[in-house]
Amino acid sequence: MKPLIAGNWKMNHGPQEGKTFFEEIKEIPGKKADVVIFPPFVTIAYVKDLARERGIFLGAQNLYWRPHGAFTGEISAKMLVEARVDFVLVGHSERRNILGEDDELINLKLKTALDYGLKPILCVGENLQEREEGRAMEKIKFQLDADLSGIHPSRVIIAYEPIWAIGTGKNATPEQAEEVHAFIKQYLGEVKVLYGGSVKPGNAFSLLSQPHIDGVLVGGASLKPDSFYDIIQSGIKAFEVKDSGPLF
Ligand code: PGA
Repeated sequence: MKPLIAGNWKMNHGPQEGKTFFEEIKEIPGKKADVVIFPPFVTIAYVKDLARERGIFLGAQNLYWRPHGAFTGEISAKMLVEARVDFVLVGHSERRNILGEDDELINLKLKTALDYGLKPILCVGENLQEREEGRAMEKIKFQLDADLSGIHPSRVIIAYEPIWAIGTGKNATPEQAEEVHAFIKQYLGEVKVLYGGSVKPGNAFSLLSQPHIDGVLVGGASLKPDSFYDIIQSGIKAFEVKDSGPLF
């Protein structure tokens, strides 16, 4: 088994900085991890050859569900396929909370991504109040039901991203993350689940060592080639230990 290590650049790294990142990142040893970077749309074309040479997949941070037409500012799945993108993020909490995306729209985007052969990563997660009130699982279950309506869950990768952990430096503990991941897998069946929220070189190994954590979605720490590479290495090490099974 390989970990999936994903880097979400958000609104950072235009074409120049994007190119520099790919020029500087070290080669991934022995293809022991699947690695994908989500640059801003305008950066994709500038880094696609460098990414391919380094065995790194590219993803888009968003898509619109209509194929073309009068939708100013939007990008279609068809365009992403033409731009040679493999993955797409759907339902990130920043798009839900800052840009007002609802579960109905997220469901349409997931269906569209799948229709065009893209691999969607659906982000779900509770806010601080919901966690403190003991409603984290209820919130996640609600999002999964609504967002995956009419979709077989095995076709989608899930990212569990507690909102209180995103960009705050305060990650979920490995135990907190493991509990939610185990719940999602029990609820949906065979599905890959990534953890996201303040993942950094110092906590990646302990998170990725949890039995139900299949990878990570990294924001801030994916912007620098060295810290992102450290996280990739942690994933490879954690999965080697997991694959070798219990010692006794
Ligand atoms: P962060 O972001 O690693 O900066 O907390 C994670 C995400 O939003 O995907």
